[in-house]
Amino acid sequence: MSACFDKFCQLDALLTQEKAYWQFMPFACQDYPWRHSNPELSTWLDALSELDLALLLEDSAALVRELAVFLPVLPEMHQLADIPALAPVSDVSPRLPRGLDVGIPGRKWLQILAFNAVLPSHQLPWLEWCAGKGYLGRVLAACHHTEVTSLEWQQRLTQDGQLAANQLGLPMTFIQADAFAPESARVIKPDQHAVALHACGDLHVSLLEQVAAKRTAAVSVSPCCYHLIRHEVYQPLSKPAKASELRLSKHDLRMPLQETVTAGQRVKQQRFVEVSYRLGFDALQKHLTGNHEYLPVPNVQKARLKHGFTDFCQWAAAQKGLPLTGDIDYLHWQQQGEARFREVERMELVRQAFRRPLEMWLVFDRALLMQEAGYQVSVGTFCDKPTTPRNIMIHAQLEK
Ligand SMILES: C[S@@+](CC[C@H](N)C(=O)[O-])C[C@H]1O[C@@H](n2cnc3c(N)ncnc32)[C@H](O)[C@@H]1O
Repeated sequence: MSACFDKFCQLDALLTQEKAYWQFMPFACQDYPWRHSNPELSTWLDALSELDLALLLEDSAALVRELAVFLPVLPEMHQLADIPALAPVSDVSPRLPRGLDVGIPGRKWLQILAFNAVLPSHQLPWLEWCAGKGYLGRVLAACHHTEVTSLEWQQRLTQDGQLAANQLGLPMTFIQADAFAPESARVIKPDQHAVALHACGDLHVSLLEQVAAKRTAAVSVSPCCYHLIRHEVYQPLSKPAKASELRLSKHDLRMPLQETVTAGQRVKQQRFVEVSYRLGFDALQKHLTGNHEYLPVPNVQKARLKHGFTDFCQWAAAQKGLPLTGDIDYLHWQQQGEARFREVERMELVRQAFRRPLEMWLVFDRALLMQEAGYQVSVGTFCDKPTTPRNIMIHAQLEK
């Protein structure tokens, strides 16, 4: 059995065993789900200062170290989720013609160079799936001197991409099409190297499935937006994932993307106000209606929050057709919301520790799909996290 298979099965067993710590919606929980089963963790979380919480959110190694005292499986899970950096096949940047990066945002350019540098060169035509303006395709065409077909849904992007490719004299052909349309399958051919940089959810999954069906020579994808799927719940791809007990909702699938961005003080304060208002209103509506379910309220204009908690509750109640009658102690419910915000933050902190293991479960599911179809698969990172947190590449080539 392959290393991917072993790691997948071990991660699957541990994620299933520990799902009380990550597979839940903090907003909808009145208290830590582990309050009684893991009281030491609850006490530690309650005592955690805001500063320590912020520091741990930004340092996942420290978070795993600290939480391992209460959740001893975490280091093993992170070891299983740890993947190597893919070795660059070449450093092509010096050989690229001038002007190739015109219009490409700086970080995207670095991602593309890094992605290209680890791609094995099979000297095959390229298929660029969900290409945008074909920024990656430009580098592939210029660097490997082989034709690139770039498929993209948005007409404006294909037009701009084709224009730029023509001006640069690159052998690129854009096709404006929906990747899910049956006709799009026709562009996937056996003698090709298909690539998808950050094609969302089902878009990269459908590419892998169609590549496997067409016996395409090679495919390299960097997955992102796992939650952008057409079904309500995740559809496992490989045999071990189909046999797993885990059922992943869209909320679960968002977790790998909930990277903590170091937000500035103003943004943090705005989030505190909005989230604590929502939680305070929820506590109030539960009290008034006897309903125990979390009641989601639509997006709110940020300017509205400046009018205070009472105004927010009146607006939210109107949205939900809920009469606000009687003498309501708004200050009390605002304070309830603030206390709940503190708890929700601490629940999210615990879920953070399972983020990369869950992402690797999803990545190994994709890798195993290709292995089962007879491909040799490698999985690794193609760039560092600051360049993009979605830095994983799955490369599969058909075994001869
Ligand atoms: C996150 S962007 C990535 C673009 C490019 N690969 C890159 O890394 O710069 C995803 C692209 O997929 C395209 N897209 C979304 N749905 C699509 C579909 N059904 N068929 C084809 N392209 C689609 C979007 O228009 C967008 O350009």
